[in-house]
Amino acid sequence: MRPRIKHVGYFITFEGVEGCGKTTQIKLLSEFLSTHGMRTVLTREPGGCPIADKIRTILLDAENRALSPLAELMLYAAARAQHVTEIISPALESGEIVLCDRFCDATVAYQSFGRGIDRSIIDTLNDHACHGVSPDLTVLVDCDPRVGLERARRRIELSSGPREERFELEELAFHQRVRAGYLQLATDDSTRFLIINGTDSIDEIFATISTQVLARIPEALRAVC
Ligand code: TMP
Repeated sequence: MRPRIKHVGYFITFEGVEGCGKTTQIKLLSEFLSTHGMRTVLTREPGGCPIADKIRTILLDAENRALSPLAELMLYAAARAQHVTEIISPALESGEIVLCDRFCDATVAYQSFGRGIDRSIIDTLNDHACHGVSPDLTVLVDCDPRVGLERARRRIELSSGPREERFELEELAFHQRVRAGYLQLATDDSTRFLIINGTDSIDEIFATISTQVLARIPEALRAVC
């Protein structure tokens, strides 16, 4: 394993199954931290920069159902390598708070617990793609995949953009393995993870997240609060 690089910024990732509400929450948190004078970068995976966004299109296109599990894994790793180099590392080095919607834990949950790829292959690829960067805090918005999938499918129906639904088309058992994977990761690294109940209301969830996250952001980065 590559040694973890110490950065001056603070790296927060959000994780969870489809439709758990993490994207709504990460946007609210980003606005909240910015209005309190903190320098934040909001980004996401797969994607976050033009090259990784092109890889995202391949990964989420429902027409690519023939994508093999190993090819899928390597595309996630390729997108991450580009995103870390271009966006995440420079922001952390310049002392910003980086908020990323999904990161390495998603690869363990989806490609290892979900698809069944050997964990050691995933850890090695993640290790190379991350260039020593790892999250300081991970917010896991936990919810039953039946609830999440229902919300995600409704969102896709209402969306006018590209149909990013390759994973929403997976069977329920796949999403249940992903959820179990996330909960296992959170148990194994309980200092880094904050588990939030994703079935509470948006306001209740945000109240918990904003309080807990603020308490963890280092004093030096907490501008006006
Ligand atoms: P999103 O719907 O949160 O934007 O995430 C895109 C999809 O990509 C989601 O179904 C989870 C999946 N994913 C993986 O399978 N592995 C990964 O490493 C990442 C970052 C996402």
